[in-house]
Amino acid sequence: MRIDIISAVPQLLESPFAHSIMKRAIDKGLVKVVFHNLHDYATNKYKQIDDYVFGGGAGLVLMIEPIFRCIEKLKAERNYDAIIFLTPDGELFDQKKANQFSLLQNIILLCGHYKGIDERVRQHLVTHEWSIGDYVISGGELAACVVADAIIRLIPGVLNDETSALSDSFQDGLLSPPVYTRPRNFQGWEVPEVLLSGNHAEIDKWRYEQALKRTQTRRPDLLSKRKG
Ligand code: ADE
Repeated sequence: MRIDIISAVPQLLESPFAHSIMKRAIDKGLVKVVFHNLHDYATNKYKQIDDYVFGGGAGLVLMIEPIFRCIEKLKAERNYDAIIFLTPDGELFDQKKANQFSLLQNIILLCGHYKGIDERVRQHLVTHEWSIGDYVISGGELAACVVADAIIRLIPGVLNDETSALSDSFQDGLLSPPVYTRPRNFQGWEVPEVLLSGNHAEIDKWRYEQALKRTQTRRPDLLSKRKG
């Protein structure tokens, strides 16, 4: 899989891909992540990528030309399955989307910044608009990292133990059950006995019940959405 990320501040993207699971996925060649600095696609000598809002109002808007040039260059090199704009007024990103998009070959993530982006980018250039939640962050970069991480960890071979993505919260519509490690007793706080029993049928049953209970108390909305 290849993920191209277009941004006005690509420095904001660096660290998440330089460590841990995403770095390993890149090093193993399971995903290629390429950053594109919008300033490199500016059309004037000042490397301008934003301008005043037509009609008046505070703040600057990302211009269409640098974005268009960057996307056209990429599209000339390969076919893209999706061009996703990160924006708080987009469709809510969730585990289902992460699963679906982890099967794609090439995607572009486009980060907004400043007051917004020329509407014609949204009308004519992007195929999807996603939000990572009902709050506003300063730009699309952190949202792009969240989306890329959720997708990349699902690519087969990225996680050492492939079943561990399957047992993630949300993967079966339930939150994950609690987990424990040594010591068995910390200041009198004990690990549930069943987990030490070696009885795997009982352990599975306990985990399922805990997942159900946790989902019921914390996210009952997930249970009503869940089929079966
Ligand atoms: N840019 C600013 N806020 C955002 C959000 N909640 N999701 C995606 N992109 C954003």
